[in-house]
Parts: sequence; C-alpha cells; structure tokens
Amino acid sequence: MRIKYIAGNWKMHKTVPEAVSLAQALVKDLASCGHKIMIAPPFTALEAVAKTVASSNILLGAQNMSNAEQGAHTGEVSVLMLKQIGVKVVILGHSERRAIYGEKDEFINSKVKLALAQGLEVILCVGETLQEREAGKANDIVSGQTGKGLAGIPEKDLGRVTIAYEPVWAIGTGKNATPQDADAIHAVIRAELKKLYSAAAAEAMIIQYGGSVKPENAKDLLTMPNIDGALVGGAALKPETFIPIVCFDK
Ligand code: 13P
Repeated sequence: MRIKYIAGNWKMHKTVPEAVSLAQALVKDLASCGHKIMIAPPFTALEAVAKTVASSNILLGAQNMSNAEQGAHTGEVSVLMLKQIGVKVVILGHSERRAIYGEKDEFINSKVKLALAQGLEVILCVGETLQEREAGKANDIVSGQTGKGLAGIPEKDLGRVTIAYEPVWAIGTGKNATPQDADAIHAVIRAELKKLYSAAAAEAMIIQYGGSVKPENAKDLLTMPNIDGALVGGAALKPETFIPIVCFDK
C-alpha cells in the first residue's frame, strides 16, 4: 500500500518573514493530518524555514540545485549547501526549469544522480505540453522523460525518488487534468517503471499529480488508484488552501 505524499512548491514567492509565517501556520495545523508532507520555499527562505519545521512532520525541500557539487558556477546553489541547512528533498526537472531555463533530460539526470549520491530525496517532474498532448504524444513524452531522468539510477535508490506528473497546460492555468486522465498517465509512468526496473519497483513508486490542484479537486484526484500525492503550486501559498489539500481525507 503506497502512502500519500503532498508537497508545496512555493516557486518564486515569499520573502523570509512571509515564508516563516506560512510555515508556522502549517506546522501548527498539519501536525495531525497524516500523510508525507513537504514544502519547498525559495532558496533565500530555506534556512529560516528549516528552523520553523525542525521537529515537525513537514520535510524541507528545495526547488532546484546545481548539477555540480561546488566550484565556479555563478548564481547556482550546491547540494552541499542545501544539505547543511537541513534540506531533505529537491524538486528536479520542473517544467518551468525545462521551458524557461532550457534544462534538458541529460542535465536533469545529472542532478538526480548527484542529489541521490548525496543522500537527498528527489521529486522528478515530467509532463507534456498542450501541443504534445494534442499531437497524441503525451504517453511518449512522459515515458521518455521518466526513463531519461532516471538513467543510471539503480533500483535500490528508487525509494528516495518520487515522480511528479505535471501536465504543462495545467500548471497555473486553473485547468486541471480530470482525475481519469491523470490516472491514465500515472499508469503509463508505472508501466514504464516496470519496463525499466521491475513490477515491484513500479508498484512501490509514489507518483504525484501537479497542475491546478485545489481544495475543490484534491479528493477526487488523490483517491484515484495511481495518484499517490500532489505537487501543489498556487494553492500551497496560503494555509487556507494548502491545509485542506493535505487533509483531503479528514
Ligand atoms: P499550480 O498548482 O499553481 O498549477 O502549479 C503546479 C506546479 O507547477 C507545482 O510544481
């Protein structure tokens, strides 16, 4: 039986005081909600939020990291720096990194390898654009991104990997995939994992859905057989919208 894993990606929102205040509200109100919970504030707020969530049931995540451990990489943040301040999870391959900053599968894969080698957990994001979906390519795109993102990762490390299926056309648009459509793609990802690894690995993998998850649609999505969690953007920025998503079954 897979657990449910709900994560908040705060993207480029929240100053340090705003981030701490949101994290404080979540620590208080999510203490009894159950499920695996993660929040990913912006880099500048990570250290302050690390202190706020220490000894709570909320894991601290980063939204990205460099593919190099350290060195001359102006503007980048190293996995060693993240670990040192208490980051446990890193989101990699988000569609905004792919689309705006040109990150390719091989580059994302090098980050996945480094994060796992350094003991972090990874959320690897995959998802098709509207154009790709309309051309009937959604299954091939998500399968390809899954395989390339995980290239060279041994099965023994998969317990620290979560896949987030985020259809690009559903992110920040208010248009979510229907629970049935999302579940079908999750099943495609699971089938690909079975091909790449084993039936047991595919069965155990936590696959989150992301893209306009809100309190109103969370339960319908999160009770589908292949949807094991959510990666939430906009609705993760306020306690009144994130808490009911995490506590969808209460
Ligand atoms: P929204 O929930 O704002 O659509 O964002 C989803 C997302 O990109 C999470 O990583």
